[in-house]
Amino acid sequence: MIENTSQRLERYKRLIEISRDLASTLDLDPLLNRIIHAAKDITDAQAASILLYDDTARELYFQVATNPSPMMRGLVIPMDSIAGWIVANRKAVRIGDVKNDTRYFKNIAKTLSFATQSIMGVPLITKDKVIGVLEVLNKSGGEFTATDEDMLSVLGAQAAIAIENTRLFQQSDLIAEFVHELRTPLASLSTATYLLLRPEISREQGEIIIHNIHQETNRLNALATSFLDLARLESGRVRFQKSSFPFQLVCEECKGVMNSKAEESQIQIHLEIPSDMPIVQADREKIKQVVMNLVSNAIKYNRPGGQVTLRAGQEEKSWYFSVTDTGPGIPEEALPNLFQKFYRFKGMETKTTGTGLGLSICKQIVLGHNGRIEVKSKVGEGTTFIVHIPN
Ligand SMILES: Nc1ncnc2c1ncn2[C@@H]1O[C@H](COP(=O)(O)OP(=O)(O)O)[C@@H](O)[C@H]1O
Ligand SMILES: [Mg+2]
Repeated sequence: MIENTSQRLERYKRLIEISRDLASTLDLDPLLNRIIHAAKDITDAQAASILLYDDTARELYFQVATNPSPMMRGLVIPMDSIAGWIVANRKAVRIGDVKNDTRYFKNIAKTLSFATQSIMGVPLITKDKVIGVLEVLNKSGGEFTATDEDMLSVLGAQAAIAIENTRLFQQSDLIAEFVHELRTPLASLSTATYLLLRPEISREQGEIIIHNIHQETNRLNALATSFLDLARLESGRVRFQKSSFPFQLVCEECKGVMNSKAEESQIQIHLEIPSDMPIVQADREKIKQVVMNLVSNAIKYNRPGGQVTLRAGQEEKSWYFSVTDTGPGIPEEALPNLFQKFYRFKGMETKTTGTGLGLSICKQIVLGHNGRIEVKSKVGEGTTFIVHIPN
């Protein structure tokens, strides 16, 4: 079908609107979703997707698609695929029938559970670096045209800038908060060393101060590690490596690691995992990190002699796990803040040390699995965190 001038003008107008829209989105996930829907729209395709390129690991992996399948996010695409070719050659590709192209990666079609006929992709390049690939699949009623390729290239160029902007924006935001969080421990370290240098300080007093310095440096270390974890997760640069494993094992490992800490406060950790709990599919290490964070909180914010219970189960289209404690609980009005970076509930922060990043990391990992995390709490009784992950 030959496009007439006014139709083409319409498409250009649409493209300009989209570019404006993209420039004003500063959250990565919504931005990527807008890009793929726009790509699908302006090229009259059946589906669109974005693959991101991790230049440290030199790996290309799936990030979003217009028809999402939970298992697809994080799927590594071989570099000898069509998308890999686009990254390596920094050029657009337009193929009428993928069956005739040896670079076509059939695994994608399987995970997408949809038959690909035609495909077109452009590299996403900013500051001379390839950050990913934007692909559209199956032109309705024919093959992608040279005009489609122009359209997608313009969109790709805008999209790459917008992606880079959200990354920079998020980083600067996070760094500002991080620096702010550094001030308190640095101030107390500075005071401590000043006191140590005073001649009137006794040996005993000196030891107490050194102990404090030791604790503060440990906390700074934990803060730096958590901060880097969170920064990587938020920038969408973390790849989720899914595998199948029995969830029970992860719980036993966590219990093993956490037992000694729990025993210090005579807290017992119970596992209530049904024996018929099916094998789950997820990023094992990251899910373990979530369980560890939640169990560590449940021990930390508990009473001496208290209980921590780890449960799991299967739902219709997902599986879940929960961590329940017998701690002081969290007032209703504080619950919405818990998953915010650096937030620590005032009532307790004097008693315990922490970074306020644990739950933000949990949330990012759960979102990376297309799941959700919830909290229920009753002051004086305890708190339960529940995580649901789609199958
Ligand atoms: N199980 C819990 N019971 C009560 N309060 C909790 C619990 N888990 C988390 N919180 C509150 O949420 C805040 C944020 O938790 P988190 O992000 O893990 O940071 P951190 O543990 O380093 O303070 C904690 O400071 C605490 O006030
Ligand atoms: Mg914590």
